[in-house]
Amino acid sequence: MSENLQEQEVIFKIKRFNPEKGFWWQEYKLKVDRFTQFTEALRRIKSEQDPTLSYRASCHMAVCGSCGMKINGEPRLACKTLVLDVVKKYNSNIVTIEPMDYFRPIKDLIVDWDEFYDRMFKVKPRLYPSKEVLEGKAEHRLKPEDQKELWKFAQCIWCGLCVSACPSVRIDPEFLGPAAHAKGYRFLADPRDTITEERMKILIDSSWRCTYCYQCFNVCPRDIEPVTAIKKTRSFTKLYKEKSEVAERGEKHTEAIFESILKTGKIAEAAVYLKTYGILQSLVDLIYMSKTGKLKYALVQERYVQNIDEIKKIMGGESK
Ligand code: SF4
Ligand code: SF4
Ligand code: FES
Repeated sequence: MSENLQEQEVIFKIKRFNPEKGFWWQEYKLKVDRFTQFTEALRRIKSEQDPTLSYRASCHMAVCGSCGMKINGEPRLACKTLVLDVVKKYNSNIVTIEPMDYFRPIKDLIVDWDEFYDRMFKVKPRLYPSKEVLEGKAEHRLKPEDQKELWKFAQCIWCGLCVSACPSVRIDPEFLGPAAHAKGYRFLADPRDTITEERMKILIDSSWRCTYCYQCFNVCPRDIEPVTAIKKTRSFTKLYKEKSEVAERGEKHTEAIFESILKTGKIAEAAVYLKTYGILQSLVDLIYMSKTGKLKYALVQERYVQNIDEIKKIMGGESK
């Protein structure tokens, strides 16, 4: 047998679920070679060992977005992940497979997509062209530079891995989530679209609710960088008149950080906080911090940065 086809026995520990029994772990042994993807391993386990095991997969080529799951704790596309790569990475022939976090489990590795689709449809995920274009009286071509700006974000396969990894969707019901933002920005940045104002209303407040943890960036199997779409959406805030409190505060925070780096070469936390939240809120928080023994961290004396002129040059501005 050629080296490529040499088989190795792997133990698959699968977190199973049904509504009557709840969760339980079940082990299966299977011999795989270096070409075996997780979807293929699951297909063989189901057909050769246990027909009750349930999972979703369709294209087996990272296109349909249906095979998202947690493999050794990492959100991954099962069809894009080779079993022996994971065995090698973790130096163990025992691998775990679980349903994606955050999504409601239905059966074994199958989860409920309704909430995810609700989020995606909230951002109106299609182009709204002009009346003339719709009536066939005009043609609106996309310039190459515009195509370049939005192309990356158009590649989303709606797999939900970014949402399953995002801490903010779990705690903030007003946050649309990384996938919806990638999709939303794809149309916000499209000059052929006619509902930009409405899109800003949908996206801007939510964009300031992301905590920039970069988990979505790390797990996306298409390198879409939803967090970049969120950053770019935030830059539309200055064009939008009816800003929410969250968006206004976010803008103030960004300006305060910029100013602080320009003046001191650092993010002076206390000054940034004061500018972002104002005197009243800062006083309230100051009292809370002194009660909880955290005041000393806020009052740390910042050290002077020596090469401040270099920093100003990098920032492209002068301090006030
Ligand atoms: S960077 Fe923002 S959108 Fe991405 S996972 Fe973190 S909180 Fe969620
Ligand atoms: S942005 Fe990436 S991880 Fe999120 S749904 Fe789209 S393809 Fe999947
Ligand atoms: S089976 Fe389609 S993306 Fe994995």
